[in-house]
Amino acid sequence: MITAISAPNIAFIKYWGNRDNELRIPQADSLSMTLNTPTVEIDVEHSEILSVKSFELDGSEKELGEKHIQRFRKHLELTKHYLNKLGVPDAIPNEVSITVRSGIPSGIGLASSAAVFSCLACAYQGLIRETIDLDDEQSSVIARLGSGSASRSIFGGFSALVAGEGSGIDSSKSIQIADENHWPLHDIVLAPSMHEKKVGSTEGHAIAQTSPHFADRIEAITSRRQQECIDSILKKDFEKLQRVTEEDCMDMHHVMETSTPPLKYLNDVTHRIISEVTDLRTSQHLPVLYTMDAGPTVHLVCTEEARDRVVDFAHAQADCTVFETKVGKGTHLV
Ligand code: PMV
Repeated sequence: MITAISAPNIAFIKYWGNRDNELRIPQADSLSMTLNTPTVEIDVEHSEILSVKSFELDGSEKELGEKHIQRFRKHLELTKHYLNKLGVPDAIPNEVSITVRSGIPSGIGLASSAAVFSCLACAYQGLIRETIDLDDEQSSVIARLGSGSASRSIFGGFSALVAGEGSGIDSSKSIQIADENHWPLHDIVLAPSMHEKKVGSTEGHAIAQTSPHFADRIEAITSRRQQECIDSILKKDFEKLQRVTEEDCMDMHHVMETSTPPLKYLNDVTHRIISEVTDLRTSQHLPVLYTMDAGPTVHLVCTEEARDRVVDFAHAQADCTVFETKVGKGTHLV
């Protein structure tokens, strides 16, 4: 049996929209910071039939619906296609048994699918290592087949999912931009709602192209934003990172809200937090930025010096659950 551990990531340049929905090949590059917590652990072993079990951290079993099981089945099928392409069709000869232990509440904007599928990819990498020694970029392809953003959590620190070209299963993979020791940023997460979101990102990606603003968004990322974000990280230029991250986040939500049907993930609490944190940043000259994924949860990313004041601000928001996280080291075997 092989056990792997992983954590979510928070995107500065968001992945939204695919050029191939089936293979989760993104339309544009994206970039994120991998977090250190909350974590997911997965055990895998060879098995005659596919079995998937999921547990909360307290040991209680989570009922998995047919849709969830199907996603793992599909992911295994696609992983086998990829292994076939790599010349090792029998690396996973039959099915597998998968046991997930997750410390992440699902559907609140903390990317649990990113942690789960990066973790599973790492566990598969470990399971087949006597047959083929996959490198982390190859493992990032396997993660991407389950959840595009999962691809980035393979690496610690800061990583980019590169859209690449063509339609091959491995035409898009992640690369590391800088490791976890490069810049000790924190992510203080404020979750206004613990309810599962209505429309998941898989369905959201599939309608992204219906927004009249989608093409401009892809153009902005491709011609400028992704590179600005990489530069800001390499130079540890927080102000530049803040500008490009907030611009890209609001642009993604604009695309979501103008798609057919429209997807409105942000709520009044989100907008109130954004406005208050912007005031706090100005009045206290605080290096802090906000960004939101497919949910109302606000991620406040800040430097070490700003952390305590951002944590105080977060805990003063009565209607939110707060998670204190920082840059993490990526997926690994335990
Ligand atoms: O990996 P998915 O299919 O759950 O998509 C993630 C989409 C966002 O979280 C909204 C953006 C991102 O890049 O993480």
